[in-house]
Amino acid sequence: MAARLAASGVEVVIGSRSEERAAGVVAGLAERWAGRGLPLLPGDNRTAAKADIVVLATPWEGALGTVSALAGELSGKILVSMVNAMVRWGERFVPLLPPTGSVAVAVAGAVPGAKVAGAFHHLPAGPLGDLERKVEADVMVFSVDRATTDEVIALVGRIPGLRGLDVGGLGSALAVEAITPALVELNRRYKAHASLRVTGVG
Ligand SMILES: NC(=O)c1ccc[n+]([C@@H]2O[C@H](COP(=O)([O-])OP(=O)(O)OC[C@H]3O[C@@H](n4cnc5c(N)ncnc54)[C@H](OP(=O)(O)O)[C@@H]3O)[C@@H](O)[C@H]2O)c1
Repeated sequence: MAARLAASGVEVVIGSRSEERAAGVVAGLAERWAGRGLPLLPGDNRTAAKADIVVLATPWEGALGTVSALAGELSGKILVSMVNAMVRWGERFVPLLPPTGSVAVAVAGAVPGAKVAGAFHHLPAGPLGDLERKVEADVMVFSVDRATTDEVIALVGRIPGLRGLDVGGLGSALAVEAITPALVELNRRYKAHASLRVTGVG
């Protein structure tokens, strides 16, 4: 996600629990995409949380702890969760429903000062991170209010091939997050890297 955003001209700080690890990730991307001058900087999560728009991209079990520790930095900020909660159930991946119904609603409860949104849940990391590859997908965006959604849609629109679509408020988070394991199953079945396209809009 960070590489694709940077390749689209967005300045990105890659956060981490360890600034050294973030530096390693940034160095790896700079080496892989040498010559592109990707505007990527490393930082710890606190530094990353100072960005204008913050993307939460941890596994579900780390999401609440991560944002709770940064409540001060995140106050007043747009916080975009791309977190899906899922578990392996026997041979299958299935959604894990938090008591709040979705991760995004739990995040909004943990950092009430932030303007919580959701996006990017269905974009597979492999193709996204291969900057030689074109991506083509719709990105379902939900948030606490219309202005926040519009800002996130504008961010999505910076990436060629992606179209952000307003799918409503935080009440839509459950549906958006919970379909992801079905896409994972689809990808396993067809050896694919599927994303979603919505027809009949625009
Ligand atoms: N992978 C995909 O294709 C994809 C697509 C769409 C959405 N997502 C969602 O995006 C999120 C991240 O996915 P990912 O595949 O990038 O996961 P990941 O590689 O397992 O985790 C991303 C980073 O989160 C940090 N982290 C790991 N465990 C943590 C914890 N307990 N607490 C705080 N930070 C922790 C780690 O960074 P540090 O160790 O450096 O802190 C790790 O590099 C997930 O919620 C996933 O559902 C993934």
